[in-house]
Amino acid sequence: MPVISNLKARQILDSRGTPTVEAECVLDDPSSGSGQAFGRAAVPSGASTGSHEALELRDGDKKKYMGKSVEKAVNNVNTVLAGSLVGKSASDQRTIDQLMIDLDGTENKSNLGSNAILAVSMAVCRARAASEKQSLWKSLADQFEVNMEKEVRLPVPLMNVLNGGAHADSGLSFQEFMIVPAGLRTFSEALRAGAEVFYALKDMLKKFQYVTAVGDEGGFAPHVADADHAFSILTHAIEAAGYSGKVKLAIDCAASEFYKNGKYTADSKSFTSAQLVDYYAHLAEKYPIVSIEDSHAEDDWGGFALMQKQMGKTMQLVGDDLLVTNTKRIQTAVSRKAVNAVLIKLNQIGTVSETVDAILLTQKMKWNAIISHRSGETEDTFISHLAVGLQTGQIKTGSLSRTDRICKYNELLRIEEELGDHATFVSPFK
Ligand code: PGA
Ligand code: ZN
Repeated sequence: MPVISNLKARQILDSRGTPTVEAECVLDDPSSGSGQAFGRAAVPSGASTGSHEALELRDGDKKKYMGKSVEKAVNNVNTVLAGSLVGKSASDQRTIDQLMIDLDGTENKSNLGSNAILAVSMAVCRARAASEKQSLWKSLADQFEVNMEKEVRLPVPLMNVLNGGAHADSGLSFQEFMIVPAGLRTFSEALRAGAEVFYALKDMLKKFQYVTAVGDEGGFAPHVADADHAFSILTHAIEAAGYSGKVKLAIDCAASEFYKNGKYTADSKSFTSAQLVDYYAHLAEKYPIVSIEDSHAEDDWGGFALMQKQMGKTMQLVGDDLLVTNTKRIQTAVSRKAVNAVLIKLNQIGTVSETVDAILLTQKMKWNAIISHRSGETEDTFISHLAVGLQTGQIKTGSLSRTDRICKYNELLRIEEELGDHATFVSPFK
């Protein structure tokens, strides 16, 4: 039985140069004679965070990293969490996570910080996988009893190639315009299609004299007029790369960011909740859009329900800021018929077990779960393993540039190779 023998954290920087928490866990397993096992993990951080998310503890000392240092959270790992977890068995993740939840004692982890707790939660999973001498995805599948037959599904990537909203100065109201290579046969073919569309997009932007600098998630951030124009450019890029019909489109509107006093202001127009549904329907008629995330603001349940009623039969409708990977809010979405898919982000809720509970509830409802990165990322590839281990079928992890995004795709290539003939790649869209 592996026992936690050492636990520590440090402050590192994320892809925006902002401090974040990295934790390391050492397991001792004298009984098996296998010696020690080591696991390291780093937590990501959002920019357009939902107000119902677990609290990311930051020091607030303006003299250091403009108030964004995380020394308190690091200290909480090194003192409170290490003090209580060292010597405990690491064989059951739920027990470890519950211990940390109880130690924190708040609803939103504001005492110790979700960044402190999550870093430990993930590092323990990694160390356990190392002690079992198996890949993290397989260890997660075993730990949470995911039923895997012979075939293991690789996730369809949602790749954010045009950045707007809070992620770039492009002027685009919607935050993410994604390409979805769902019509390919394997993950590696899908990745290649995504990359080739990305090159075609760059050529096209250059031709029309747009800037080709990239935003926070590695997608381009050109000053295009509106969503219609953005989709038109993307459709042409897909065509130019030879993937019409095979590569679809998706958006994350992150609508809380353009909602104020009961009105939505997007693409230089003002909308009520109902008018916004019509606007999306109009765009979906013109372009091959398969998924719309956060169509409305995080507490506009009525707007979401209307959207689901009008478009839910044919379109994946995803709750992100609305649901914040929280089973209570997902339950509310079930009873209000608000969406038909859930975005899953580890740091919205703050432990691996609670994240898995959100995924399992989503899957029980026969809704799609999409594992997601944050706009501030690190080299950590935990989410690639989570997507495979929990068999979610979709992952959203940015564009085809910048290693903080590409490392997740590269890890999926390695998993695909490890699986050989057992790897499958299935479109979740009709
Ligand atoms: P965030 O954006 O990480 O900045 O919150 C990602 C998203 O909204 O999906
Ligand atoms: Zn989102």
